[in-house]
Amino acid sequence: MTSWVVQVLGGEPMLIKNGTVVNANGQKLADVRIAGELISEVAPLLEPHEGEEVIDAQGMYVMPGGVDAHTHMDLQVGARRASDSFLTGTIAAACGGTTTIIDHMGFDAPGSSLLHQAEVYHGLADGNAVIDYGFHGIVREVNEARLSELPRLIEAGITSLKFYLTYDGRLDDEAILALLQHTGELDMLACVHCENNGIISYLKQKYLAEGKTAARYHALSRPELCEAEAVERMLKLAHVAGDAPLYIVHLSSAEGLAAAEPLPAHVYLETCPQYLTLDASCYDLPNHEGLKYVMSPPLRDASSREALWKALAEGTIEVVGTDHCPFFFTEKLAAGADDFTKCPNGMPGVELRLALMYSEGVVKRGMSPTTLVRICATTPAKRFGVYPRKGVIAVGSDADIVLFDPQRKLVVSQTLLHERVDYTPYEGRELQGYPHMTISRGKVIMLDGAFLGSKGEGRFLKRSLPDWT
Ligand code: URP
Ligand code: ZN
Repeated sequence: MTSWVVQVLGGEPMLIKNGTVVNANGQKLADVRIAGELISEVAPLLEPHEGEEVIDAQGMYVMPGGVDAHTHMDLQVGARRASDSFLTGTIAAACGGTTTIIDHMGFDAPGSSLLHQAEVYHGLADGNAVIDYGFHGIVREVNEARLSELPRLIEAGITSLKFYLTYDGRLDDEAILALLQHTGELDMLACVHCENNGIISYLKQKYLAEGKTAARYHALSRPELCEAEAVERMLKLAHVAGDAPLYIVHLSSAEGLAAAEPLPAHVYLETCPQYLTLDASCYDLPNHEGLKYVMSPPLRDASSREALWKALAEGTIEVVGTDHCPFFFTEKLAAGADDFTKCPNGMPGVELRLALMYSEGVVKRGMSPTTLVRICATTPAKRFGVYPRKGVIAVGSDADIVLFDPQRKLVVSQTLLHERVDYTPYEGRELQGYPHMTISRGKVIMLDGAFLGSKGEGRFLKRSLPDWT
């Protein structure tokens, strides 16, 4: 990529010329006019208006800003806190071409109203996030009081929620059935973390008793069948609950995938770049570096990775989110060097999602740019109720746009990234294709890796009910 005409970058009327506009349903040479916060025209050969700033996007893909439906900013887990806040984490997201996040809130104290954690999260995100954001609800107990709050959650713009099959806040089958019956009746989308808690706690205790404390045993204590059992059970429970809509987060394994197939029409699958681009050999890195990759579910063998790519290509898996949940390596090391069960779970990833998916999907595996847009922007926007405001380059949509340079080559280094953490799992990886410019509601907030936005410019998205198309 050579010459660039980028004049003024700040919320002015703007015309993006000469780029290839990529949407989920196709790509074409077209110009994009932005008026205020919205896209006002998409057509070939538009003439600049008086006073309009012109951005030359020759050779670039002009894509809808990424929608990352799985982040954990400011996550508090016991005494530990994920290192990215809504401010730092959304700066990193913006620099990677993501203009919307939908964050999974952490567990609230038992007995709390579902609305309470939303209030807490507004306190964390409002005035801090630099891109638009929403929250998924979190459910750790099911009773009349909690169920009766679901309509209020929807009114508050929180039209999806999450529950877990593992961790202390997990739900049992009876609770899940009652919850799914209600979410189904309300047309909400219930997200679930699928791992069998009994298998994990049994294997963790067994390995510790045998003195097997290294990072590798984190993966071995959460084998593929642990995900597969949970996926299979969830599909059955969702069916019993009237085919309630169900979204399985961070599907990681070939066995988990097989358990979901044939995929029922009311079940939706998400995976993450780490399961598509890394594998379990990372746990054997020397000097305890395997702890960098301790997250749940864990990385799998390379054969699983290719099964997930195939499912993405076939459309069985329809969303790629990041599960961004960073902890400093120094913290993981201090806690987990002698006992993998004490290592905080989670990895950074919000900044490299589009670039990794382009390099590994489009360049290496022949995925189309339209598929990339579908899985990283359009479908998450639909499922989580922000489409067509987000996730598409169309007249009337928010002017959330990424100019993506398909020729840009880059070797990943933590020092180039904006995530607030002391490592990247992708250090040294060679990428082809990288976001050049990010525009959020008509304002350029990233150019060539430099963040140009401002604290607090992101707005809370009061989300609609899902679009199932
Ligand atoms: O290890 C992970 N994924 N940490 C984030 C919380 C969760 O389980 O999604
Ligand atoms: Zn997560």
